[in-house]
Amino acid sequence: MNKPLLAAVEQPQIRPYALSLSCASRAALKQQKPCCLWLTGLSGAGKSTLANLLELRLNQLGRHTFILDGDNVRHGLCSDLGMSAEARKENIRRMAEVARLMVDAGLLVIVSAISPFRADRETARALFEPGEFLEVYISTAFATCAERDPKGLYQAALAGQIKDFTGLDSPYEAPLQADCEIDTARVGVEQATARLLQLLLEK
Ligand code: ADX
Repeated sequence: MNKPLLAAVEQPQIRPYALSLSCASRAALKQQKPCCLWLTGLSGAGKSTLANLLELRLNQLGRHTFILDGDNVRHGLCSDLGMSAEARKENIRRMAEVARLMVDAGLLVIVSAISPFRADRETARALFEPGEFLEVYISTAFATCAERDPKGLYQAALAGQIKDFTGLDSPYEAPLQADCEIDTARVGVEQATARLLQLLLEK
C-alpha cells in the first residue's frame, strides 16, 4: 500500500476544531443511544444478510441506522485496496473511522466485514466508548460457506485463481470474547435477527 499522502504527524498545524453541538445532543434528537454493531466472519457466513434484515427491523421500529458493508465500501471509499493483510488493515481502519463518525452523528451503525484480524478489530473497538461497540461473531464454518459459495469465490479460490482468500491461504482469527455468536447453519435469519435486536436492547 502507498504511504499516506500526508501523515497527520507531519501536519502539527492541524488541530481538531471543538464543535459546539455534542454527540449526545445529536442522539437525543433521534431518541436513541447510538452504537456500532460489528459483524465479523468468513465470506458467505451470512453477515450481509443479517445486517440487511436487522436494519429493516430497526427502521420499522423508528430507529436511525446505517450499514457499512465490506463489499459496498470496497466499491467506493476503499476501492484502492486489495486483500493483502496490510490492505485489509487499512480497509478496517477506514470502516471503523467512518462508523465512529456515524455514531457521533447519532446513528445505530451496523458494520459487516470479514475483518479477519483480531488486532484490527481491537483497534476499531478502541475508537468507541465502552458499551458503544458490540462485536458479533458470525461463526458459520468454512465448509458451509464454501458449499453456499454465493459468489463463486470459494470455487475460484480452491482452484487457485484467487490468492489471500480468507480461511484458505489468509487466516481468520475468531473473536475470543464476542458479545454474541451466531452460526447461520444452525440459526435461521429471522431468529438470528431477533437475537441481535435483543442484544441491542440489552446493551
Ligand atoms: S476484509 O477482510 O477487508 O474485512 P471485506 O469484508 O471488506 O474484507 O470484503 C470481503 C469481500 O470481498 C468478500 O465478501 C468477498 O465477496 C470479496 N473477496 C474478494 N477477494 C477475497 C479474498 N481474497 N478473501 C475474502 N473475500 C474476498
